[in-house]
Amino acid sequence: MKQEIPLAHAHRLLAGQPACLVTVRYRGKENVMSLGWVCPVSLEPPLLILAIHPSRYTHDMLERSQECVLNIPPRPLAEQLVRCGTLSGAEGDKLADSGLTLENGQRIEVPWVGECLAHLECALVDRLAPGDHTLFVVEVVGAWAEQEAFDQTWIVDDQQEDLQPLHHLGGGRFGLLGSSFTVS
Ligand SMILES: Cc1cc2nc3c(=O)[nH]c(=O)nc-3n(C[C@H](O)[C@H](O)[C@H](O)COP(=O)(O)O)c2cc1C
Repeated sequence: MKQEIPLAHAHRLLAGQPACLVTVRYRGKENVMSLGWVCPVSLEPPLLILAIHPSRYTHDMLERSQECVLNIPPRPLAEQLVRCGTLSGAEGDKLADSGLTLENGQRIEVPWVGECLAHLECALVDRLAPGDHTLFVVEVVGAWAEQEAFDQTWIVDDQQEDLQPLHHLGGGRFGLLGSSFTVS
């Protein structure tokens, strides 16, 4: 039997994409925040949409600097992911508390989180505000990934638990890929 669910929870039916740690830098100050709502929307050019609420400190830093990095944390960073998604950079230096290591990026001025599996360096190209989150359209201008965690075609390895991305299911719940299969 199907049950109608509250509309505020409808997005959970689509949950499962890897959660990210977004790094930003503006006027020499860095911040990091957790981001679950990210979606690829174009291959050529490679574009993503990030949904970020205007109340996030990261929101204005991204608007001003026009650049960010999406870092994909592995299973052992679950606690830091929740912390960076609960505390605000407006109230203190989250990065210093988190123990995460910032490393210089390659294509943009924003650093990435060294402990993460992969990094997508992004440049802001557009923004929309159809609802309560701003939809930032960003172009991927650099992409880097830990070879050990992916196969030769950059599909994630489903066998190594500590090298898998965290899929945000809702609230404090996360999932790992578990198993994958190929249809030919
Ligand atoms: C797993 C996870 C995913 C999140 N996804 C989003 C998101 O997609 N968009 C958003 O605006 N906030 C999201 N948040 C909430 C922000 O990360 C949170 O408000 C954070 O404290 C903002 O940090 P800042 O103020 O330093 O930018 C998420 C939180 C968690 C724990």
